[in-house]
Amino acid sequence: MKKQWIFSLGLFLSLGLFLFSCTNDQEKTTNMQEPKTEAEAAGSMALVIENLNDAFKGETTASAKYAAYAQKAEEEGKSEIALLFKTASQSEAIHANNHKAVLEDLGMPIPEVTPEFAVKTTLENLNDALAGETYEINTMYPEFMTNAQSANAQLALISLKYAYETEQKHQVLYQQAIAALGSNQLSTLATQYYLCPTCGNTYADKAPKRCGISMTSGDRFILITSA
Ligand SMILES: [Fe+2]
Ligand SMILES: [Fe+2]
Repeated sequence: MKKQWIFSLGLFLSLGLFLFSCTNDQEKTTNMQEPKTEAEAAGSMALVIENLNDAFKGETTASAKYAAYAQKAEEEGKSEIALLFKTASQSEAIHANNHKAVLEDLGMPIPEVTPEFAVKTTLENLNDALAGETYEINTMYPEFMTNAQSANAQLALISLKYAYETEQKHQVLYQQAIAALGSNQLSTLATQYYLCPTCGNTYADKAPKRCGISMTSGDRFILITSA
């Protein structure tokens, strides 16, 4: 009888310990979803700053590269493609400037950039530009925006989103240019472009009353022509 009583007490205590451990585990899980500690928040912000530095370097390099590609297209007598590269170069400069402004707002130094790239034939340059835009759309900007969102860095998020959405326009424009070059129909390409000074959004031939990305008024758009 006594043995049975001791056994029951043992079972009761084991059950109690088990339940306590479950509650504790649940608490640990809940804690993981709680707001970040100061150290975690600082770590998230450091990652956003690193991303902004990389984005600034990438956009500065893209701007210089597209300007050189424009010159090469002009030399090859492909003025329609030269105009597209000239426009995209100015758009990337707007992105670089936006990222720079966010870094300045965060009190960070602006990195020195020495653009490095190779100028090849216009077809190769177009393919390189398309690959660059595709990488930014599929990989770089989505990752950077997730990090900015996680750090609640709203200004960084806006600057990154402006570039991310504009690159999708550039991707299409480069695809069209590659197709036109392949079918010897360069005259079908745009003869002028409009650039939004706020986000770099790029419109071929005509522009709407407001920018589709940043809502900037169309009368502030920059007209880019061959002249
Ligand atoms: Fe860009
Ligand atoms: Fe772009």
